Amino acid sequence: MKQHINNIIKGDALSVLKTFDADFIDVGITSPPYNKQEKHKGWLVKNVKYDSFKDVKTEEEYQQEQIDVLNEIFRITKEGGSFFYNHKTRWERGQMFHPIQWLSKTQWTVRQEIIWDRMLAANIRGWRFWQVDERIYWLYKPIKNNKIGIELESKHALLTSIWRFPPENGQKNSHPAPFPITLPSRIITSILNENKGIVLDPYCGSGTTLVAAKLLNKKFIGIDISEEYIQYANQRIQNASAEKRIVEEELQKHIVQKTFKQRKQNGEFTGRHKNNHQMIDNQSHQISLL
Ligand SMILES: C[S@@+](CC[C@H](N)C(=O)[O-])C[C@H]1O[C@@H](n2cnc3c(N)ncnc32)[C@H](O)[C@@H]1O
Repeated sequence: MKQHINNIIKGDALSVLKTFDADFIDVGITSPPYNKQEKHKGWLVKNVKYDSFKDVKTEEEYQQEQIDVLNEIFRITKEGGSFFYNHKTRWERGQMFHPIQWLSKTQWTVRQEIIWDRMLAANIRGWRFWQVDERIYWLYKPIKNNKIGIELESKHALLTSIWRFPPENGQKNSHPAPFPITLPSRIITSILNENKGIVLDPYCGSGTTLVAAKLLNKKFIGIDISEEYIQYANQRIQNASAEKRIVEEELQKHIVQKTFKQRKQNGEFTGRHKNNHQMIDNQSHQISLL
């Protein structure tokens, strides 16, 4: 696998993953194409169209492909390793599709469902309350059937299961659907801390996960079907230092200001997560729906 380390492979994710050895990835992060049929134009954001494939499958085909890809990732991940899968609930002619429908058919243990509050709605029609959330599923490969795994350090766990930051600014990144570098940075630092590790993104697009991995001193492997996006991702990786400030800002949030014990000793509030809420309120931006 050595030849793939710190590289992006061009090809179909499922076919490429099948060529990989078993049990060598530490953590993966991805946002796959959402099978959005390329016709859901939002009022506020541009329609997502990729350069070298059409995001148009039957829902059945799409879900089966995602199951197959996720099972391949399970095979190549080390026991005790994790995969973070960014997706959202979708509707097609009034029928809701929820990612748990296919995640529960994979070999992964679903360790957590994280809500990503993007603070921005893609469509402001009134068929539903404006959808500002996406989901990030923490998938876990158990060690000898222990589905619980080791604990996160407190400085990471206190960031809670609701993550609030806006999507990537479309003017900064030419890819049609990048996620912000804050997202993979939070995951990589929470799971790997200072440890070495190999980070995978099988639909790496503009390379956001790979840039975060590089800046956090981890190894990485990317896969994407588009030559154009791979070229752009490689440029970003070369110029990674330009994005260092945003990654450092994220790391600043992984700090325990006072431990539970210290607060108790000082007679201060020891409720479950008051401090964290204050911290999140300080960080949060105005909801920018319009
Ligand atoms: C939602 S985007 C990922 C964006 C990425 N997270 C970023 O920050 O730039 C999905 C990516 O999957 C790629 N893709 C679509 N079908 C694929 C396939 N079968 N195999 C590999 N990549 C594919 C697209 O080219 C696109 O870049």
